[in-house]
Parts: sequence; C-alpha cells; structure tokens
Amino acid sequence: MRFEVGGEIATITMDRPGKRNAQTFATWSALARIGRTLPEHVRVVVIRGEGPSFSAGIDLRMFSPEGLPGQGSFASAAALDGETFLARITEAQQGFLWLRRPDIVSIAVVQGHAIGAGFQLALSCDLRILADDAKFCMKEPALGLVPDLTGTKPLVEIVGVAKAVEICLTARNVGAEEALRLGLADRVVPRAQLDEAVGELAAALLTTDRDAAAATKRLLLGAPERTLEEQCAAERAEQAVRLQALFGKAGAEGNGSAHS
Ligand code: ACO
Repeated sequence: MRFEVGGEIATITMDRPGKRNAQTFATWSALARIGRTLPEHVRVVVIRGEGPSFSAGIDLRMFSPEGLPGQGSFASAAALDGETFLARITEAQQGFLWLRRPDIVSIAVVQGHAIGAGFQLALSCDLRILADDAKFCMKEPALGLVPDLTGTKPLVEIVGVAKAVEICLTARNVGAEEALRLGLADRVVPRAQLDEAVGELAAALLTTDRDAAAATKRLLLGAPERTLEEQCAAERAEQAVRLQALFGKAGAEGNGSAHS
C-alpha cells in the first residue's frame, strides 16, 4: 500500500493489482497506522486501487487451512477465545473508522470491482467517485459471513434498510449507474476521466474554510442521531465557536497578526 502527501491531499493506493488489491489484516493495520499518523495539515484523503479493480475484498487465502503467511486463517481465528477474536475484528475496523473523521474528507475512487471488504472500504469514505465500469458487491453473505468492516451502517444510511437487505442478501453486483441513482456514487465518469474528476472534487473541497468545514462535517455526521431540537442546539454551539474564532478577541488578534 502506498501513501503519498501532496499539499493538503493525501493519497492511499492499494498496489496489488495482480491480486485485484485483495485485502489482509496487514492492509487494515497499515490503514489504521496511516490514520494515526496522518499529517495534521491534510484535509482530503483519497483512496484508490491500482489496476482493473478497486479491491476484490478479503484475500481468499483466509478461507484455506494454511491461511495467510503470518496472519492466520479463518479456521485459526475460529479457534481463538471469544474475546481475542472480537478484539481482532475491532483492530481491523480501526483501519476503516478514521476515514469518517471530521477534520478530513475521504474520497474512494472506484473502478472495476469493489467486493466485500472492497465495497466496505468505499462505504467507509465520505464520498465515492466511480468509473463507469465500477461494480459494488457485498459478497459476505454468499460466503457464510456478515459484513463486519464498518460498511453496514453507511450502506443503510445511504440506500435505506430495504434496499440494503436486497443488495446484501442477494450478493449481486450494483453497477455504476444504479450506484449513482441510489446515492452510493457521488459522480460517475468514464474511466479515462477518473483522475481529473477526483482532482476537481478535491480542489473544490479545499476552497472552504478548514475549521468551518470540520465543524460542519461534525454537525452533519451527528444529525441522524439527534432530534431537531438537539441538532439546532448543536448548530448554535458550533456557530458560537466559529464566531469567536472569526470575530472574538482571540480570533480578531489572530486575523490581525495574519495581515500585519
Ligand atoms: N483474494 C486473493 N486473490 C484474489 C482475490 C481475492 N479476493 N481476487 C482475485 N484474486 C487473484 C486471483 O486469484 C488471480 O490470481 P492469479 O493471477 O495468481 O491466478 C488474480 O487475482 C486475478 O483474478 P481474476 O479472477 O483472474 O481477475 P478478474 O479481473 O477476471 O476478476 C474479480 C476480478 C471479479 C474481482 C474476481 O477475481 C473475483 O471474483 N475475486 C474474488 C472476490 C471475492 O469473493 N472476494 C471476497 C469477498 S468477501 C470479503 O471481502 C469479506
């Protein structure tokens, strides 16, 4: 997995195209580490996969008795005591959870297949830009598993429970045009225009005020869990902080010194 920072934009690239960017525990640890050590000035995080597919999901060697070198197999995971097993999944989920942080906006750039863990990685991002050949598939139930890499909540929030049930319990492919219609894609472009589209979106996201953007994302993320009254109170509280920062004594001094 490659990690590059250019200005306020960080790019994470899954780089096992020969294996369709199949994911392992090492992938999720690497993602979590990037989240923990992300330079403070980064505002946009782009996740992409090299080659024909965004990601073919979990490395299928996990299903074999030998498993993944140094990382075990599903059979060895099943032999762990309950608590250790749950801790292992919690650790894997850390690779996905940080992508929702309010101080950044995460964008998944999806071409070809995004299957299982690949679909969930795309779902853990704030925004998804798709090539016209993109296909999402929640394959886990077809393999006897459940999706457990933080993807079920955003899926339900975006498409609703009924459509999420249909998509997951048939494990079918959802193509780019349908994804756009369902709100799973923010934009669909021809594959050759993917880089340009991501660049445009990232640049547009950088035009807003950094702290106001973070505060607004906090508000938006919290909205589904709050009543209207609670949300209004949250808006007031965030705005009070913004006004102090912009026009209060400390903010005014800060602005003054910036111009002197
Ligand atoms: N794990 C390990 N290796 C994989 C995986 C995977 N998930 N997916 C593809 N590969 C490997 C193939 O074994 C093949 O390797 P080889 O060249 O050494 O034989 C290589 O990647 C290319 O795979 P193809 O199938 O030839 O590529 P194609 O582009 O035709 O198809 C597709 C891509 C559709 C993604 C197909 O590979 C596929 O269905 N993969 C399995 C998807 C899957 O079931 N994932 C698990 C989901 S559940 C979860 O994530 C929890």
